[in-house]
Amino acid sequence: MRPTKNICCIGAGYVGGPTMSVIAQKNPSIKVTCVDLNESRIKAWNNENLDNLPIYEPGLAEVVAEARGRNLFFSTDVDKAIDEADMIFISVNTPTKTYGEGKGMAADLKYIELCARQIARVATNDKIIVEKSTLPVRTAEAVKSILDHTGNGVNFQILSNPEFLAEGTAIQDLQNADRVLIGGENTEDGKLAMQELVNIYASWLPKDRILTTNVWSSELSKLVANAFLAQRVSSINAISELCEVTEADVQEVAKAIGKDSRIGPKFLNASVGFGGSCFQKDILNLVYISKSLGLNEVADYWEQVIIMNDHQKNRFARKIVKTLYNTVADKKIAFLGWAFKKDTNDTRESAAIYIAEKLLHEQANITIYDPKVKEHQIFSDLEYLGTLDPEIIKQRVRVVNDPYLAMDQAHAIAILTEWDEFITYDWRRVYDKMVKPAFVFDGRGITDGLNLEKYDFQVFRLGKSITTNKG
Ligand code: NAI
Repeated sequence: MRPTKNICCIGAGYVGGPTMSVIAQKNPSIKVTCVDLNESRIKAWNNENLDNLPIYEPGLAEVVAEARGRNLFFSTDVDKAIDEADMIFISVNTPTKTYGEGKGMAADLKYIELCARQIARVATNDKIIVEKSTLPVRTAEAVKSILDHTGNGVNFQILSNPEFLAEGTAIQDLQNADRVLIGGENTEDGKLAMQELVNIYASWLPKDRILTTNVWSSELSKLVANAFLAQRVSSINAISELCEVTEADVQEVAKAIGKDSRIGPKFLNASVGFGGSCFQKDILNLVYISKSLGLNEVADYWEQVIIMNDHQKNRFARKIVKTLYNTVADKKIAFLGWAFKKDTNDTRESAAIYIAEKLLHEQANITIYDPKVKEHQIFSDLEYLGTLDPEIIKQRVRVVNDPYLAMDQAHAIAILTEWDEFITYDWRRVYDKMVKPAFVFDGRGITDGLNLEKYDFQVFRLGKSITTNKG
């Protein structure tokens, strides 16, 4: 097997872009080309102005500035990059199927299959294919079957190398990964291929953080990791509702249980519900796989994590309506945050979208401020739901660039993303400009230290009783 000199990554999205940027940064002698069919995305990756990269991640612009043009390239010429590469990462989207068998649950693998067929068509020399996308267990079998029937006489080794980065901390997660997982065949060639990929990561990570397993364990581990993380969020969210009616405080409970080293303190913040492109789709996929294998109890167990998450979003919206005297019709609700979490401009499956949907059905007027999400994205997220009249969206939704304008004359504020800047606002000024009584619904637990009650706000925090300045 020849040493890797040329890497191609198909898919320049939230995973492909940052991952390849860091691989190129840390391996200056390897040429890394990230390709995508989406021309405007590639154009943005090549933009001179680093503020205009298609993805916002702290630290990403600096890495791109260092490597781009040296050994990191972004291109739409997929065939050329495939042809030149010794190693090809497949990092395309694997959304939930929206049609046919498995609709609403199974992963849609059509983009993966298209990549495999394109590689099969173009390749003329041996290559290592790396599954970077999150895939159902045993997908490598299908990919191999397509590649092995090309008739080109090319040998392919398929590796699974799922990505564990979290959006918002992607660069830090890549540069200092807890672990890298590489699954491959237990054959001579399989081991050599795994070693090639180990070498790439070992240029910056300690060897003991690079785990090698069989392909199926690697594929399944990614789904399971996301299922466990999401389960933790749903678990603490379930407890938040119990706290609200028993006068227990979810943060105190989280602190108390987190001290148990078997439980640990991380990922125990009650919130308006998890979002992002991965948790929901990966659990649905796990549920689908379990059901397909006749493991109904396993499927039901994991499905409950999604049911709880939907419940948390719904009850947050209901709480707003109920607290505002059972009607939000024609009232102004200010949204702070639209991204599914802080430090990213990604809005996929963001809780804010679903809260907005519910409130628009109740005829609220919504003004949205998010430091990184653009207006067209917000409108497209709402239209994509397909449940709201486009005219209503246009009439009732406003997106502004100034948070104070968003909150001016609002009846209530809903905090839906935990952006750091929100706690730096002049809350006295905000209070003075709002309709009274002024309500804050903190869906992210970020206002605890602010004592908003002292300005006379009425504050609802998940997992706590509603508080006023009278306690
Ligand atoms: P994304 O949607 O941001 O990017 C995928 C890109 O692939 C798109 O730009 C699309 O145009 C491109 N693409 C699709 N088919 C193509 C083809 N045949 N040729 C060239 N380009 C093609 O998706 P994202 O978020 O980067 O996710 C990719 C995979 O990584 C998914 O399987 C996801 O589950 C997984 N993942 C995502 C994480 C995240 O935080 N977003 C974290 C870990 C894994």
